Amino acid sequence: MSLKTIDPTKTKAWKKLQAHFKEIQKDQMRSWFEEDPERAQRFSIQWYDLYLDYSKNRITDTTMQLLVELAEEMGLANAIERYFTGDLINETENRAVLHTALRGKETDTILVDGKNIVPDIYETLQKMRTFSHNVIFGKRRGFTKSQFTDVVNIGIGGSDLGPVMVTEALKYYRNHLNVHFVSNVDGDHVQEVIKGLNPETTLVIIVSKSFTTQETLANATTVRHWFLKKLPQEAIAHHFVAVSTNLAMIQEFGIADDLIFPMWDWVGGRFSLWSAVGLSISLAIGHDNFEKLLDGAHMLDIHFREAPYAENIPVVLALLSIWYNNFFEAESEAIIPYTQYLHRLPAYLQQAIMESNGKRIDRSGNTVGHQTGTIIWGEPGTNSQHAFFQLIHQGTKLIPADFIGFKESLYGNKDHHDKLMANFFAQTEALLNGKDEQQVRAELSRTKRPNKEIDKLVPYKIFEGNNPTNTFLFQKLTPKALGVLIATYEHKIFVQGVLWNIFSYDQWGVELGKQLATTVLKDLGRPRMAPHDSSTRDLLKHYKASHL
Ligand code: F6P
Repeated sequence: MSLKTIDPTKTKAWKKLQAHFKEIQKDQMRSWFEEDPERAQRFSIQWYDLYLDYSKNRITDTTMQLLVELAEEMGLANAIERYFTGDLINETENRAVLHTALRGKETDTILVDGKNIVPDIYETLQKMRTFSHNVIFGKRRGFTKSQFTDVVNIGIGGSDLGPVMVTEALKYYRNHLNVHFVSNVDGDHVQEVIKGLNPETTLVIIVSKSFTTQETLANATTVRHWFLKKLPQEAIAHHFVAVSTNLAMIQEFGIADDLIFPMWDWVGGRFSLWSAVGLSISLAIGHDNFEKLLDGAHMLDIHFREAPYAENIPVVLALLSIWYNNFFEAESEAIIPYTQYLHRLPAYLQQAIMESNGKRIDRSGNTVGHQTGTIIWGEPGTNSQHAFFQLIHQGTKLIPADFIGFKESLYGNKDHHDKLMANFFAQTEALLNGKDEQQVRAELSRTKRPNKEIDKLVPYKIFEGNNPTNTFLFQKLTPKALGVLIATYEHKIFVQGVLWNIFSYDQWGVELGKQLATTVLKDLGRPRMAPHDSSTRDLLKHYKASHL
């Protein structure tokens, strides 16, 4: 069954939200805090070891009530059930969307085309466990019997970003294996990775759901050549592993049957880190930790499926995002983790969020009349404070931001952690309160400057404040907490897609570039080119001239 198609802008709730927006758009959050000492308590959720404070948002009780009404009118509850039970909600690709099944329980039954997919999931998890264990502990070795020291993951998009982000995020839990990632078709990328490696001690994982992706096949071929300069053909079967749905193509590449890990078409690339696509994660941190990551995501899945909307973390976050995107007309959202370990989280979420919800055709095939996908960007704090926070504090754009922090650091350096977290708390407070003229004047007059100079400086030193933030406060960056965090954003994406009346799980927009690059590549190798606009034609001529 397909998802209902309803134009959100035609709902009663949307109309009420428009009227409500007019009433409160200029209101100051700081006044709401002054008037209501319970505000933080009312607009926060404590769940597992996560405390989510969303009180620093431009919302009142009425806003939240109306947003919940919107979710109800759009049939969110029904959509959630269809999502978890394997309906073909990825309608344009005629597929179910079941990354949640990858972290479900062994006793679950989830049917796809009448077949329970859970046994295959568990068989693959067991295969990953055995394989990782044997590689980590030296039971499985290379062709010359040397122990593996390095793992190279070759993949792009969802076959790269998730594993990179998680292995970086969980670096603290890593073992002796050095895990490297090659994604870009830029030959310098792969060269930089392999230049210091020894083929005898290197394990190569080729990850491609389709096994047709140009970048991945080019990189895999280059690594194979590099490998075969030192080792014979039969060594491939000891060093190359593949994760894919395309078994025929993998066999052609010469990969041994027992080193093929399956993937399924009901898992979208950008949601696939929980599958064998996460093999590099299991190798890097051990399979027990990988399963803790799955456990965290599964806990959040249950929360998302069962909690009432007002206490439901992904639902609340999605509703707030819609509030800013569609009513305040905010164009982007910043993700600011206050831990260096999460430095790849914004890049990972860029694909997850923008490839999913960057759509302008609704579920009826019509152009939407409202804004959809938000632009995602970010960097860890405190580095980002010294980079782009100026624009968030004093620029002309409204940029809602997610602040993600942890009560404990992993190495336990309290002095550093206090400094880090002082910035974390201070920033959201400053974004809320700003600094008014009176405060600025008082500060400047203490510097004993002449009045004329003070008058001149005042406007530059004022902070309007009223900038919305969500604060995620976890106990500690553990595999489980990371699973919770990633699944939170996955379900936020789903809710927004449902409420925007779009299909979140296809990515036709990426296809055009792939097609055109194929033609251009041919043109680079032939004297007569296909017709191009004059700009592209001249650029190609310049490039070709330098390779004559
Ligand atoms: O970028 C488009 C895309 O199709 C992503 O959705 C996917 O994660 C990536 O390419 C890689 O595809 P594959 O795993 O098939 O190589």
